[in-house]
Amino acid sequence: MSLCFGKCKSVLITGSSRGLGLQMVKDLAKSSDRPATIIATARNPTASTDLQELSKTYPGVHTVTLDVVSQRSISLALEEVRSIVGSEGLNCLINNAAINICTTIDTVTADAMMKSFQSNTVAPLFITKAFLPLLQTAAAQSTGMGIHRAAVINISSSLGSIKCNWGDGAAYKSYDYRASKAALNMVTRCLATDLESDGILCMSLHPGWVKTDMGGPDAALTVEESVSGVLAVIASLTDKDHGGFKNYSGNNLPW
Ligand SMILES: NC(=O)c1ccc[n+]([C@@H]2O[C@H](COP(=O)([O-])OP(=O)(O)OC[C@H]3O[C@@H](n4cnc5c(N)ncnc54)[C@H](OP(=O)(O)O)[C@@H]3O)[C@@H](O)[C@H]2O)c1
Repeated sequence: MSLCFGKCKSVLITGSSRGLGLQMVKDLAKSSDRPATIIATARNPTASTDLQELSKTYPGVHTVTLDVVSQRSISLALEEVRSIVGSEGLNCLINNAAINICTTIDTVTADAMMKSFQSNTVAPLFITKAFLPLLQTAAAQSTGMGIHRAAVINISSSLGSIKCNWGDGAAYKSYDYRASKAALNMVTRCLATDLESDGILCMSLHPGWVKTDMGGPDAALTVEESVSGVLAVIASLTDKDHGGFKNYSGNNLPW
């Protein structure tokens, strides 16, 4: 299997203990055209036997502890990643970790709202801020826009689309999740504006409705189907996609 990821020397994925994050690590590690360095982060990497197995089997797969809601954990992970990537910097940051408390008008609490905002909106912003020097180092060594240079991919959701949350599209209820992903999309646009002059591509990406712990067994896609699309979209990004919101097939989504 070839993913056209060889032009990207290093990639970091958050939340790679299971679900889509784990499958991204798996597909990248097995690809014949892969990043030399794959940094699989998880809040408890030793608890994920699949991740441990991948890092033992494939060269260049590094597991790093990263609890995305802990500033201390972010700082410790940054130092570890800095020593892994060295003077080449980091080419691609995929903010994938998230939670869905799934709250309705009857069950939503301020605490649930804050928890989802912390994991799904605030964490991707502060992780991007922390890793920015490494992304800038990579970006300074190339031209154009895309994963050959530097990119921040925020794994969002069509459930974060304000336009789509109407009529049939409003059937799925989750105040905390929908609001946190809509806010993540705004973070993507703010980052796209601020990081453009560094040549760092920023975009939001919806992986589809996928059979994971979060998506549930009735979801439309397997993790394999979703992640092959997600990685193909990421590999093909150019300056035209900067500041955009796409799905796993590469189609633009309405904000
Ligand atoms: N599945 C879908 O249908 C679907 C649809 C649209 C968008 N998405 C998005 O796709 C991404 C991946 O979702 P998924 O379906 O793979 O979800 P999942 O199966 O529930 O996995 C979530 C991942 O996030 C990690 N995580 C949560 N909080 C964390 C924290 N504080 N620090 C570090 N890691 C943390 C989990 O780690 P632990 O194992 O430590 O809990 C786990 O690895 C998310 O951004 C989600 O919103 C999913």
